[in-house]
Amino acid sequence: MIKPSRRLAPLATSVFTELANMKEAYKQDGRELIDLSIGSPDLPPPDFVVQKMNAYVSNPNQYGYAITGLAAFHEAVAQFYQRRYQVNVKPHQVLSLMGSQDGLAHLALAYVDAGDLLLAPDPGYPIYAASAHIAGAELYTYPLNEENQFMFDVETLPDYVKQKAKLMIVNYPGNPTAAMADAAYFEKLVAFGIEHNILIVHDYAYSELLFDQREALSIFSVPRAFETAIEFNSLSKSFNIAGARIGYAIGAESILQPLAALKSHLDYGVFLPVQYGAIEALEHGDAFLETQRELYEKRRNTFVEALQLNGWTVSKPGGGMFIWAKIPDDGRDAMSFVKQAMEHAGVIVTPGHAFGNEGEGYVRMALVQPETELRKAANQLAQIL
Ligand SMILES: Cc1ncc(COP(=O)(O)O)c(C=O)c1O
Repeated sequence: MIKPSRRLAPLATSVFTELANMKEAYKQDGRELIDLSIGSPDLPPPDFVVQKMNAYVSNPNQYGYAITGLAAFHEAVAQFYQRRYQVNVKPHQVLSLMGSQDGLAHLALAYVDAGDLLLAPDPGYPIYAASAHIAGAELYTYPLNEENQFMFDVETLPDYVKQKAKLMIVNYPGNPTAAMADAAYFEKLVAFGIEHNILIVHDYAYSELLFDQREALSIFSVPRAFETAIEFNSLSKSFNIAGARIGYAIGAESILQPLAALKSHLDYGVFLPVQYGAIEALEHGDAFLETQRELYEKRRNTFVEALQLNGWTVSKPGGGMFIWAKIPDDGRDAMSFVKQAMEHAGVIVTPGHAFGNEGEGYVRMALVQPETELRKAANQLAQIL
């Protein structure tokens, strides 16, 4: 009997497995289901990006190992950061990744030793905790809830945690909470990172999905952030190319180096045609990003307003791809609410505890359906409120 390694035991994603099984069984019955459970874009990438990738895919010379990011990719990211976030990034401060997941998954292996402390949000995107477990690091989750407006105050951490922590992950606009950080929040984090020698990791996967004319905010907008921070970004959600697997990390060269060194043993870089498509997207995608933003804003408005009309107290998030909604306070837990939503409303959403214990009592709904479907979902959900 071959046993899995002990470090895999905490990675069991039982809630997601249960959800997938439920969904499968429901669909096998031939019933229609509106799926709001997964944050995978339902829309196509921009044509010009697909065309560029096609041209390179058709060229037999583009099938070698990429090894690392192309110089032109690093340059395109640096210019994108300058243009869209007014942050001065040099090409050598960019590390290409097979999606930001690649970097986040290997984060703890690259920066912390077994037994070191890693701080991650609860609720939070599951790879943060998984990264700690993969590396045998100690995980300390900090709560994101209504009380702290989904922005945890690092000053409230116990002293031993401040001393022992090596790395802290934050994510704004958030998944699943959809909260947004402001400059003052990042300033405090950067000061905290510098004072306690903690690597501050900002997951900025939803950097382009901002509503109501909100300005994007990279952690590097804050003075001295390059001394203590690394930021992960992705083209998956911004350009609807989640399956192509391309993202990047930004940081000082010395901060990127451990992750780059680890990755040089793990993979041989992103498929070259994908890199060329990404360069095209970064260089010429501003108009597309604008339409994409408008489209998600409309979806958000339609869905939240329909939910409110049906008596659900839900507020409009300022950014991101998700609605983080408190379920009615009537004794149901998140999983029974999700089961009822599927059985009686034909809508599948993710129970909040899939993202950590603090998520109990909430569900996450992704804006990955057209407005008509979202309106229908909100109306059908009325039956179980
Ligand atoms: C918060 C967050 N970070 C990172 C990722 C990973 O994205 P990718 O690996 O496609 O860049 C996701 C994907 O859903 C996410 O929601």
